[in-house]
Amino acid sequence: MKKLFIIIPIVALIAVFSCETKSYTDENGKIDAKTMYQDNCVSCHGKDGKAKIGGAKDLSVSTLDLNQLYEVITNGTGNGMMAYKNVIKAEAERKALAEYVMGLRD
Ligand code: HEC
Repeated sequence: MKKLFIIIPIVALIAVFSCETKSYTDENGKIDAKTMYQDNCVSCHGKDGKAKIGGAKDLSVSTLDLNQLYEVITNGTGNGMMAYKNVIKAEAERKALAEYVMGLRD
């Protein structure tokens, strides 16, 4: 019975740590924007940005500049595109993602 008092906190700790936001930056500071995009954006925008699922905009024809892309990713639009600042917490990662999205243009 005593063992439970040890196991429960351990399980709780594991649960807390697995909720921690994933880092897309490796030990050398290199950011994996492709995986970041695949993990967070493909479900609505598709691999090439053109899927337009659930009213998502076609990213390959977007006319937003890099700062505007960063802004949309960070704060969302309030219209189906959520804010990612609490999901992808590192500013540098969101910037790298904005650049990746820029690269989806034809
Ligand atoms: C749940 C679906 C969904 C997911 C997931 C999603 N988006 Fe969106 N996104 C949308 C919708 C819907 C819009 C259109 C919003 C609007 O018109 O206000 C949009 C719009 C955008 C725009 C604006 C394009 C333009 O030209 O106006 C960008 C940039 C964008 N998304 C990037 C991303 C990125 C990067 C990710 C991943 C971090 C992502 N989105 C994840 C639904 C999604």
